[in-house]
Amino acid sequence: MAAACTLPLFLSVALHVFMLCSASSEADTLLSFKSSIEDPNHSLSTWSSKSSSSSSPAHYCNWTGVSCSANPPFHVTALNLQAMNLSGEISASVCELRYLSYLNLADNVFNQPIPLELSQCTSLDTLNLSNNLIWGPIPEQIAGFSNLKVLDLSRNHIEGKIPESIGALKDLQVLNLGNNLLSGNVPPVLGNFTKLVDLDLSENAYLVSEIHDDFGKLVRLEQLLLQRSGFYGGIPDSFAGLQSLSVLDLSQNNLTGGISQTVVASLKNLVSFDVSQNRLTGPFPDGICGAKGLTELSLHTNLLNGSVLESIHECFNLEKFQIQNNDFSGDFPSGLWSLPKIKVVRAENNRFSGDIPDSVSKATQLEQVQIDNNSFTGKIPQGLGLVKSLYRFSGSLNKFHGEIPPNFCDSPVMSILNLSHNALSGKIPELTKCRRLVSLALADNSLTGEIPTSLADLSVLTYLDLSANNLTGPIPQQFQNLKLALLNVSFNQLSGRVPYALISGLPASFLQGNPGLCGPGLSTPCLDDQPSRRKTRITTLTYALVSVALGVGVLIVAAGFFVYHKSSKQKQQTGIWRSVFFYPLRVTEQDLIMGMDEKTAAGAGGAFGRVYVLSLPSGELIAVKRLVNFGIHSSKALKSEIKILAKTRHKSIAKILGFFHSDESIFVIYEFVPGGSLGDLLFRSDFQLQWSFRFRIAIGVAQGLAYLHKDYVPHLLHRNVKSSNILLDAEFNPKLTDFALDRVVGEAAFQTTLVSELASSCYNAPECGYSKKATEQMDVYSFGVVLLELVTGRQAEQKELAESVDIVKWVRRKINLTNGALQVLDPKISSSSQKEMLGALEIALRCTSVAPEKRPSMTEVIRNLQLHGSKGSSPSLEFSASENPMSV
Ligand SMILES: *[C@@H]1O[C@H](CO)[C@@H](O)[C@H](O)[C@H]1NC(C)=O
Ligand SMILES: *[C@@H]1O[C@H](CO)[C@@H](O)[C@H](O)[C@H]1NC(C)=O
Ligand SMILES: *[C@@H]1O[C@H](CO)[C@@H](O)[C@H](O)[C@H]1NC(C)=O
Ligand SMILES: *[C@@H]1O[C@H](CO)[C@@H](O)[C@H](O)[C@H]1NC(C)=O
Ligand SMILES: *[C@@H]1O[C@H](CO)[C@@H](O)[C@H](O)[C@H]1NC(C)=O
Ligand SMILES: *[C@@H]1O[C@H](CO)[C@@H](O)[C@H](O)[C@H]1NC(C)=O
Ligand SMILES: *[C@@H]1O[C@H](CO)[C@@H](O)[C@H](O)[C@H]1NC(C)=O
Ligand SMILES: *[C@@H]1O[C@H](CO)[C@@H](O)[C@H](O)[C@H]1NC(C)=O
Ligand SMILES: *[C@@H]1O[C@H](CO)[C@@H](O)[C@H](O)[C@H]1NC(C)=O
Repeated sequence: MAAACTLPLFLSVALHVFMLCSASSEADTLLSFKSSIEDPNHSLSTWSSKSSSSSSPAHYCNWTGVSCSANPPFHVTALNLQAMNLSGEISASVCELRYLSYLNLADNVFNQPIPLELSQCTSLDTLNLSNNLIWGPIPEQIAGFSNLKVLDLSRNHIEGKIPESIGALKDLQVLNLGNNLLSGNVPPVLGNFTKLVDLDLSENAYLVSEIHDDFGKLVRLEQLLLQRSGFYGGIPDSFAGLQSLSVLDLSQNNLTGGISQTVVASLKNLVSFDVSQNRLTGPFPDGICGAKGLTELSLHTNLLNGSVLESIHECFNLEKFQIQNNDFSGDFPSGLWSLPKIKVVRAENNRFSGDIPDSVSKATQLEQVQIDNNSFTGKIPQGLGLVKSLYRFSGSLNKFHGEIPPNFCDSPVMSILNLSHNALSGKIPELTKCRRLVSLALADNSLTGEIPTSLADLSVLTYLDLSANNLTGPIPQQFQNLKLALLNVSFNQLSGRVPYALISGLPASFLQGNPGLCGPGLSTPCLDDQPSRRKTRITTLTYALVSVALGVGVLIVAAGFFVYHKSSKQKQQTGIWRSVFFYPLRVTEQDLIMGMDEKTAAGAGGAFGRVYVLSLPSGELIAVKRLVNFGIHSSKALKSEIKILAKTRHKSIAKILGFFHSDESIFVIYEFVPGGSLGDLLFRSDFQLQWSFRFRIAIGVAQGLAYLHKDYVPHLLHRNVKSSNILLDAEFNPKLTDFALDRVVGEAAFQTTLVSELASSCYNAPECGYSKKATEQMDVYSFGVVLLELVTGRQAEQKELAESVDIVKWVRRKINLTNGALQVLDPKISSSSQKEMLGALEIALRCTSVAPEKRPSMTEVIRNLQLHGSKGSSPSLEFSASENPMSV
């Protein structure tokens, strides 16, 4: 009996002891791993033998980032210490956790070579060191990690060649070496990774290599990302073997040659296909992912048997097709137009011919088509108008002919239409259903007839270019009701009176070439000018106000008239204008409107309108910014939106004092900042400013943006960072203005206004062109451009030999030369600041990285800027009143 009892008791004690041992040793191992790690944020504070539940056997399973097996004896199986600001040494002691299979140290600041010791962790199948500061080459000994299934070393500073020995990692399913400094040739041995699902070698600019035939052996590969590296040569025919591929990105390399029919027909599972921005040539084979002939077949679906239907279904997943900026020619693959899931078709800047089939109506998800600058022919099909998801269609610079179908703009989300420079004829159809149309360009066709008055009902229409056609009749009076930022009707055969409010708001060149047009300010006055003019005056005071608001034209007359009628019409005016002040301003809206004229207009003002500097009766100065009121918000909603902006409190952000608005315009009142803008400074040919002041501007702007992005609730995006929106006070402290105006004017109007504001386009991140969602990274890019301006002393957009050069491209080009980095620094700054400037240059280059995810956050930017510093001393100490801060 006793014996019978003892045995189980003994066993259970032994088991318990064993568990405790295992427990304590795993806890000790974790603590020993922690001991070599620096953890400034105390993210691992729960990792402590003194933790409250330390008596419980597997208490460490509760420690931050630790996961254990589900059953006793709870072994540590995974460590996820991602994004904890950890640094120090990654110690091999972690390999004593014999069941550890997953180790994620991504998004930290480990600054060391690849920790080869971890190859002792025999049970490890996932190692993720992405986004750290890992440096040095991939050593031959990488072969030691032969059990790994997932290896992510992306977004580090790993350099040198990829060694042949990496071939030993034959179980790899995921290999991500993207976004590093790898160089040389990619070894063919990567083709031996037959289990590979995900291969990413993108953004390794020095990886100058052909794409080896053996890549075609990766039959399980689902994602192949080689974009933005230095791949050259052809796309191998062996790619036909990539049967599982769903995402292929070869964009922005140096690839040449054509794409074979077999490859195109074999990639049946593609979701996204991007070979844009290479030097690919020849025809693009029809039948992408087997879509060939789908057009005709699908018309006879009843005749098909199951197997055929299935083979068509195989290609039903393609969503994005991007082959723009190459040199493809021949007929565009027509099957593509009717794929059921296709969303994006981009083929601009090639030499494609062919037409868009009417069956495009079957592409019911289609959102975006850009095929500008090709040789497309035929008519614009009716079918296009049946696609209700289409929001952008641009097909300028082609050979489309015939009439524009009446349903062309029936998509309720359509917002950008460009058919300029084609051979379209007939009348402009009544476009009534696309209530969100913001931009319509039909320039340089052979359109005839009158401009449809119904265009004036599209309330957010902002850009209208009808120039160089054969249009006749008048400019509709109703256009006065639109908030047009651009109306170009030059070189038609229009006649009659130009609506009064349009003359005052338009450059004359947008009306020229229409000898029949008349009106005040034009070379031909209207015959019936006198009576009609009087009528205009008397009936609508609003017009006068609008023209004042537009700030151009016959201002004196209008203003004088205003004063004259002030007393009699007082009630009506206060009905038109509504003002809200967030600070006590002793001023009426009438005072404000009266104060705004050519003399007080400061600077040219961007697409978002002008800025006026007004002196209040108190002697105080204020800056007033005019925005077009698109009528997106009710008065109440407008107030709450602007209030959100006005409640920001930061030394680097210009205060909003209030606003006033009518149905046409919104005037935002900002505090006045006396020093002008950084843009004004850079524009001066004698621009000189010592580095300490430039640094002060940079860090102030960065802090302002970080505040908007992270500290202020709700988080705001600036969305229009550029040097002309950075005001400077007398001590060169920067103040950001014009922030978050999307909230005021509405998203659709904001986007297209930005898109078409050419002057600032080099501040816009490349993804602005296709991404519909605004991000912090876009602000970071624009900040990077400003930082480049500060470092180089050059304006973001430069005219060189009549060709305009984007500063980002200019700097990148120069830097590729020997000593290039030194050559881009502003020579007007003494070399004693060189080190700091090089530091800032590096940050600017990271901010302007084409890949959004590679850009640092504003918080990181501040940290890095401070690290490089400005010779460690505060700029104000260097500057005494007797010194001229503009000198170097
Ligand atoms: C983990 O923590 C929870 C509460 O936070 C507690 O209920 C549980 O007992 C702990 N487990 C271990 C193994 O310490
Ligand atoms: C670390 O702490 C700082 C402030 O102490 C905080 O701003 C930052 O977000 C923390 N970082 C992480 C990664 O938790
Ligand atoms: C990261 O740690 C450093 C100290 O090493 C600290 O100064 C910094 O605030 C931390 N930053 C973040 C973003 O956590
Ligand atoms: C590595 O970790 C980062 C951050 O958590 C994550 O985004 C990435 O997908 C991980 N890599 C892999 C291959 O899972
Ligand atoms: C790759 O596979 C081929 C055979 O397919 C073999 O000859 C070669 O040795 C392998 N390379 C490595 C490095 O394993
Ligand atoms: C592309 O290749 C050509 C020669 O084939 C070379 O002159 C050029 O520098 C390469 N461009 C890039 C960006 O690598
Ligand atoms: C129908 O299916 C058979 C095999 O099941 C195939 O041989 C035949 O070609 C198919 N018919 C058509 C019209 O494709
Ligand atoms: C049109 O495409 C050609 C290349 O096919 C390019 O050279 C040209 O600059 C493009 N034109 C415009 C206006 O973009
Ligand atoms: C357009 O007008 C021009 C000049 O009057 C004329 O030569 C041309 O034939 C017209 N074209 C069409 C298509 O009406």
